[in-house]
Amino acid sequence: MAMLSARRMAAPAKAQAPRRSRVMPVVRAAAVPAGDVPDMNKRNIMNLILLGGAGLPISYLTYGYAAFFVPPSAGGGGGGQAAKDALGNDVKVADWLKTHLPGDHSLAQGLKGDPTYLVVTNDGQLEKYGLNAVCTHLGCVVPWVAAENKFKCPCHGSQYNAEGKVVRGPAPLSLALAHADINDAGVVIFSTWTETDFRTGEAPWWS
Ligand code: FES
Repeated sequence: MAMLSARRMAAPAKAQAPRRSRVMPVVRAAAVPAGDVPDMNKRNIMNLILLGGAGLPISYLTYGYAAFFVPPSAGGGGGGQAAKDALGNDVKVADWLKTHLPGDHSLAQGLKGDPTYLVVTNDGQLEKYGLNAVCTHLGCVVPWVAAENKFKCPCHGSQYNAEGKVVRGPAPLSLALAHADINDAGVVIFSTWTETDFRTGEAPWWS
């Protein structure tokens, strides 16, 4: 025991590492003239200008992005859309029937701007439906051939009867229907046909 204590005492002392002196960096503030520092009022104004300048385009872009996810309407809204003549004027039934005789099928501008036939019945009234003139094959506008009492597509020869029912291909479907009603001012109003297709007894393929 006495020997062990003696060895310990004889052991050389550990060399001590030199201590690093901590020198704190000196930060010197740049001297800014008092007149160059914007006061709080100016800062607020500049913030408002920045916010206004950035807010407008951001709002516009956000609206456009959000609108992308809103499905388009069927056209014309729930109240329908006035039929337009070749000059872009509303079709008034009284005027239309003065110049369009029984059996007439003439084009007006319909829902979503599609060319749509207004049909005059044999007793000189306007039919309650319009016929979308866009061929159900590849989209040509189908002319009415009065001499043959049918529609004949010039593109690939499809044919439709006077009610727009397909009677010869390659068109796979009949012409789309739209309601053609008359409002209190005597204007023809188109609206989406969602009921059964009276020509086929089937659900409308277009809605
Ligand atoms: S587009 Fe009418 S038949 Fe082809």
